[in-house]
Order: sequence, then C-alpha cells, then structure tokens
Amino acid sequence: MMEKKIKMGIVGAGTWGRTHAYIYREHSNAEPVAICDMNRERAQAIADEFGIKEVYTDYHEMAEKADIDAVAIVTPDFAHADIACCFADHKRHLLIEKPLATTREDAERIVEAVKRNGVRCMVDLHNRWNAPFNTCKQLIEAGKLGDPYTAYIRHSDIKWCATDLLPWAAKSSILWFLGSHSLDTLRWLFNDEVKRVYAVKREGILKAEGIDTPDIYLSTIEFEHGGIAHMENGWVTPNGNGNVNDFRFSIMGTEGMVNLNLSNHDLITFADQEKIMVPDILVSNFVFGKCKGLSYESIRDFIDRMVDGQEFRVTLEDSRKTCIAILAIIESAEKGIPVEVTY
Ligand SMILES: NC(=O)c1ccc[n+]([C@@H]2O[C@H](COP(=O)([O-])OP(=O)(O)OC[C@H]3O[C@@H](n4cnc5c(N)ncnc54)[C@H](O)[C@@H]3O)[C@@H](O)[C@H]2O)c1
Repeated sequence: MMEKKIKMGIVGAGTWGRTHAYIYREHSNAEPVAICDMNRERAQAIADEFGIKEVYTDYHEMAEKADIDAVAIVTPDFAHADIACCFADHKRHLLIEKPLATTREDAERIVEAVKRNGVRCMVDLHNRWNAPFNTCKQLIEAGKLGDPYTAYIRHSDIKWCATDLLPWAAKSSILWFLGSHSLDTLRWLFNDEVKRVYAVKREGILKAEGIDTPDIYLSTIEFEHGGIAHMENGWVTPNGNGNVNDFRFSIMGTEGMVNLNLSNHDLITFADQEKIMVPDILVSNFVFGKCKGLSYESIRDFIDRMVDGQEFRVTLEDSRKTCIAILAIIESAEKGIPVEVTY
C-alpha cells in the first residue's frame, strides 16, 4: 500500500520556516511542496535547499494554486490571522506557529474560520514535547505529586533575540514569544484554566536600544481549582549567558515536587578560549543527520496526527485560552491591577 503523504506548504521562510522544512523533508508521511515569503530570495533559498518545487511571494496565490493538504504559518507573531483565515477558506489544514494570535479579535477570527470550513488546526506550543516537562506530566498523571499546588517557571531569552534575531520584536513581546509556551505548559501541567492574573512589567533596557517592547514581565497566575504559579518572562538576560534560553521550572504538589533546570543542566558544556557554552541538545539538534529535539517533535506529531486522524495534542481551544490569558496578563501589567480572565 502507498504510504500516505501530507503535502505541506510553508508561509514564512525565516528562521523557523526552515525548521519546518527539515521535518517535512525527513518525515516519511510528509512532503514539502510549496513555500511563500514576501521576500522571494528567502523563499527561493529554502526551496533550493529542501527541494521545494513551488515558490510564491503572495500567500493568496499559493492558497489558490498550490496542491497542498496543509500549510504551516511561520510568519511573525502578529501576522498569523489573515493567512490562517485565507488558507482555511481554501480548505487547507493549519499548523500555526505560536502564539495563535496577538489580539482577541484575531484569535476569534481564526477559530471561526477553522470551524466554518471544517479544517483542522494545531498551534505549535511545542514545550509539551520537551522531554523533562513531558516526564513531569507523566509523574503528575501517575499521581506521584498529589494535587499540583504551586509552580514557578522562568522562561527568558538573551537580549540578542530582541535586538538582533527578530526584526519584528517591537511588534511582539516576550510574553508572546516565550510566555505563550510558559503559560500553555502551566495550563497543561495543572490541567486547569487560568482564572485570574496579576502582573508587573519593567521596560527601558530594550527601549534604550530602540526596541519598543517591555524588558520583563513577572506574573502571578491563579487557576480555577486553586493552583497558583509565578511566571517570569524576560528578553534581557545578558548575552554572555551560556544558553539562549534561561529556563527553570519547579512544581510542588500535595505529595511531591519536580524541579527542572534546562539552562545549565550539566549534561554537556563546551568551552573555547573565551567562554563556556551549553550546546543545544533539547530544542533543535541533529543525531546522525536526523532531526531531534522538541521543536522537531511537535511538527512531526502534527504530521502523525494528520495521518492517523487523532486529535492534536495541542487543541485549538488550548491555544485560544492561552492567548486570552496572555492578553489578561498584558492588561494587568498595563493597569497595575489583578485581571479576571474571561474566555
Ligand atoms: N515554536 C517555537 O518555539 C518558535 C521558535 C521560533 C519562532 N517561532 C515562531 O515562528 C514565527 C516566525 O518566527 P521566525 O523567527 O521564523 O521569524 P523570521 O522573521 O525569521 O521569519 C518570518 C518570515 O515571514 C515572512 N513574512 C512576514 N509576513 C509575511 C506575509 N504576509 N507573507 C509571506 N511572508 C511573510 C518574512 O519576510 C520573514 O521571512 C513567529 O510566530 C515565532 O514566534 C516559534
């Protein structure tokens, strides 16, 4: 029997569009068929590298003409909704990079278009595939922690991400870029919805460098069934930090506790004449040329679920609720008051 191939399109040929291309080339049930970027050179470069035949600069044209089953939307955080709605209207399934959207209106528009067209949609909130977090989830599900009671998560980036990596950082924030992962992880581990948030932010370091976005948010999260968490997301960790991500987590239940340190985990370090570094072995690494790490696993899982028809491990409702709760955090930090989350 012929193996089923999911024909994939990619919109957005930047850093993360390339990550997607790797998996669609490697996965035996996928095939990268078309790529679109408003910058033709960028799209052409990935097309050449990964053997993608069709190149577009206008996603409307790609939605009209490309023979694809699904599309990966890998454009900047604020530029997901129009593209998602267009492809849903052309009956294409969607894998949208996190966050789902950065406004309530955009999130609702996507949800409405997905439902109206009967297509499937997953948002790439990939921390659920992060092995230490996934093990923590398994321990919670096995009852080893009792009831999750309180947690702390710090998920921050070195400043370079905002100043150099992302040309659109000022049109997003660390809350969208990493906070969406943090909050999805907390919702997943507590198996609960955010009820109320109280957040503070500080700004000035990035603004002094001409990037108009907050430096850091500290958020207190209250869940509907009583769990509480502190969430820290900053874009100003010093560039000399050995790891791009500063990623710590602990969760305490009524019976047990899990602690994670994914930043300086002592599994591997590399030193040259100037500094010590922590090579990435968790997010996007290769073993004998094969894609490993959580960032590939979530995309691989999208293809697997497209083939077997089972529900995505991150549902559209997961990503919508994460988006709405992040908006409440932004509002709380802006007004300096606790905000009840209304879904
Ligand atoms: N899952 C993860 O942890 C992870 C990691 C990195 C990035 N991302 C997400 O992926 C998305 C893209 O990030 P990136 O780092 O690749 O950004 P990038 O700036 O490197 O690439 C974005 C590309 O989209 C193109 N683009 C923008 N608007 C377009 C449009 N209307 N039509 C066609 N092309 C368009 C730009 O020209 C650019 O080449 C973001 O939402 C980001 O948060 C997710």
